[in-house]
Parts: sequence; C-alpha cells; structure tokens
Amino acid sequence: MSKPKIFIANPIPGFVEDYLRENCEVVIWDFSKPKKFDGILEIIKDVDGIIQVGMKIDENLLSHAKKLKAVSNISVGYNNFDVEAMKKYNIIGTHTPGVLDETVADTIMGLIINTGRRLCEADRDTKNGNWQKGDVSKFLGKDIHQSTLGIIGMGRIGECVAKRANLGFDMDILYYNRKRNKLAEEKYNAKYLSMDEVLQKSDFVMVMTPLSDETYHLMGEREFNLMKKDAFFINASRGPVVDELALIKALEEGRIAGAGLDVFEKEPIDKNNPLLRMDNVVTLPHIGSATEKTRDDMAMLAAKALVEVLEGRGSDVIIPELR
Ligand code: DGY
Repeated sequence: MSKPKIFIANPIPGFVEDYLRENCEVVIWDFSKPKKFDGILEIIKDVDGIIQVGMKIDENLLSHAKKLKAVSNISVGYNNFDVEAMKKYNIIGTHTPGVLDETVADTIMGLIINTGRRLCEADRDTKNGNWQKGDVSKFLGKDIHQSTLGIIGMGRIGECVAKRANLGFDMDILYYNRKRNKLAEEKYNAKYLSMDEVLQKSDFVMVMTPLSDETYHLMGEREFNLMKKDAFFINASRGPVVDELALIKALEEGRIAGAGLDVFEKEPIDKNNPLLRMDNVVTLPHIGSATEKTRDDMAMLAAKALVEVLEGRGSDVIIPELR
C-alpha cells in the first residue's frame, strides 16, 4: 500500500516529523519563507492530509484540495474548522483534547495570581529602578487564597483550574456551564449558578468555553457591568468569546479591577491596542499550552490521529461534529 501524502504546515518537533516521515510521504513548508496562501493552495491540491495550527479550513481552501481526506489541528480548539464545509467535502478533522488541560490550568492560575497580586506591574516598576526603601503602600493587591473564583465553562480545563484553586488556594468555586458538572461539585465543592450570578459574586471570573456561534462575544458590556468593581477577568480560551471593545471600556471606566489575557480578538495583538498600555492588564501571547512537554504531546497526538484517519483506522480525537 502506498503511503498517504501529507502537508506539514507549521514547525513540529523533530521526533514527530520522523514519525510522520515513517508513515507518510511528507511535504513541508519552507519555514524560512513567509506563508503565502497561493503556495499553500499549490501544495494542498495534491495531498491526502494536512497537519497544522490555526489554518482556516473553509470552502475556499477545500475546493482546491481535491484529494484531501483529513486535517489535523495541533490544538484543542477547532474554531479554524468550517465544520459545514468539511462535511460537504467529506473531510475528517481531528484535534488534541486532554493532553494540554493541566498546562493551560497552570497558565490560568498564573494569570489569576499575576493580576490579583500585581506581579507583572511590580516587576516592571522594579526593573525601571523605582523601588524606594520603606514604601509599603505600593502594589497592594487582592488575596488569591479564600477568594471566590467564577468559572464560565466547566469542562476539562475548568476542572483542572477548580482543583488548583480549591484544593491549593482554598478558593470558593462558582461555575456556569451548559450542563452541570457533578465531578467539579463533588471534588472541588463547586456551586452551579446562573452565569449572571457567577459574574455578580466572583472575585475572579474566568471563561473557558470553545469559540462557536453560541459563545461569540459571550462576555460583553452587560456581563462586565454585572461583575464586582474589584473583580478581575481572566481569559485563556479564545479572544472572540469576549467583546474586546466592551472589555476595554469596562477597564477604562474602572468598572472592573483588571484582566489577565492570553488570547485576543486579533492575534497577534495590534500594537496600538489600548490593553497593552494598561498596568492592571496582564497580556500574554497565547501561550496557554506552551511547555515543551505539552507541545510535544500535542504534536504527537495530532500526528498519530492524522495517520490513523488516513489509514482508515478511525481516531478517538476526531472532532465530535464529524464523528
Ligand atoms: C489550543 O489547543 O486550542 C490552544 O489554544 C493552543 O495553545
């Protein structure tokens, strides 16, 4: 049996590339050159599979990919997939659930601690030579321990944050989710409330929902108005889950205390985005899952899924809508 032909569209670890070369004929983008859509179309017209991060898989791309059978995301989020177009062209899509949950939860705890205790702000100030002996009035923050964390979207990553926050920091956990999460309730004493109640009662509010038509701008002006004035907002899910202009307004008007953000409506963030000039906002460049081990695990899971699907063996990580 001849090997399937695949396109590697993003840099991947060497051992994952080796695995793919053993099992497939590989075409790889020349990463010393900027990615050009025309160049991608030229390659994909002739491949059975693609492994990539964040590439828009839509009608336009699929209409050029006559042999394509599967696309593998090296990410758990799959809002880059136009699921209806993939159904139409009979394309299977896979993603990387599970392997990044604990790592993303670490990042979220980092954002909670960094916003509440103003660590990044204090670091900048110290590096700028502003530490004055005896000044004990600067950088007074909010205690993390025994405060209340509101989790909007209690899936696997939400559970991992609840575990850290409740068992490690003795935080009270409130949550809103489409379905009740009994495990989070039993293990981390999480209380299920309406989204409005979670917003009204929490000291830290984090969203962790996939991006879909239903969750687009889930957090807007009304939602920020419901939050406590001294509460912090945390987002490491997807930027468009938040109406960023409404968030900026809420921060500018002091309607919330600050924000910790790993994701933005436009990535990379525009250098004129007001969020970059706010001391009470921590901005990260979408590094939620960025540890060597987790990124290795994600790339290997994505590679194995692609091979399994192309060999007709199916896969546990096909996105639910395409199973
Ligand atoms: C994901 O897997 O969706 C993450 O956002 C990537 O870091």
